[in-house]
Amino acid sequence: MKIIQNPHEIQKDLITLKKAGKKIGLIPTMGNLHRGHLSLFKLAQTHCDVLVGSIFVNPMQFGANEDLDKYPRTLNDDIKKLESINVDYLFTPTNDIIYPLGTNVNTSIEVNRLTERLCGETRPEHFRGVATVVNILFNILRPDVVVFGKKDYQQYMILNAMVKDLFMPIEIIAGEIIREENGLAMSSRNKFLSIEEKQKAAELRKTILATAAQIESGKRNYGSLQQEAIQRLQNKGFKVDYFEICNALDLEKATDTDSQILIACAAWMGQPRLLDNLEVEL
Ligand code: PAF
Repeated sequence: MKIIQNPHEIQKDLITLKKAGKKIGLIPTMGNLHRGHLSLFKLAQTHCDVLVGSIFVNPMQFGANEDLDKYPRTLNDDIKKLESINVDYLFTPTNDIIYPLGTNVNTSIEVNRLTERLCGETRPEHFRGVATVVNILFNILRPDVVVFGKKDYQQYMILNAMVKDLFMPIEIIAGEIIREENGLAMSSRNKFLSIEEKQKAAELRKTILATAAQIESGKRNYGSLQQEAIQRLQNKGFKVDYFEICNALDLEKATDTDSQILIACAAWMGQPRLLDNLEVEL
């Protein structure tokens, strides 16, 4: 695997490969790679000739009181994992490369509507940071195909919308959620859970599944299903940010005629804020 920090150097290599007819795949990450990330790399491998990963803990997507400093940085381990699955290139830019003037950037990318719901309500600046850095990475690396994980379903939808709206010549593919044995969705933030918290955190998936079962059995009183779920999570020790039954196509609150539903939840268990979701087809 070629590990490159200089954006011009990696861009030169990738443009040469593209000119030779190679399809470039990209998985942008913030590192601390786990099985969930590796599944995205493996999926991308089936859609491209040259696979590129990027590791950059993006300061622009963290709010003032969030965990930027504590975010786990494990570059040497990450490199070993990527080498073991034959990733071709790893791009590891620094803050100065991505944001030469700091994160108070001259130019940013703002995706509307989809960013206002769910995580956007409590993290108003987050998706501007995500869309901006992903755009910068796309411009440097020029991928043909990119895989985003469905654990961050809203992020996937926002970036998909950005690519479509701006006519970027990139195919976006969604990778399925990979779970721990107890059902907890894999996340870099799971390592902040104590053993006891990790056990309790399994309730997030169980609650989503129980809600899905009620919807599938014909219940459409979404407001009260949400309240029940929130109560159940609070009883297990979660602090719930949101538990929402949405239309999976636009993330607006689901109505009883919608047939593609997304149940999405964000909740703190101890320190980490955990995300999970489930698509339900009616
Ligand atoms: O999902 C992530 O790890 C990040 O939000 C991403 C897409 C790499 C942008 O920093």
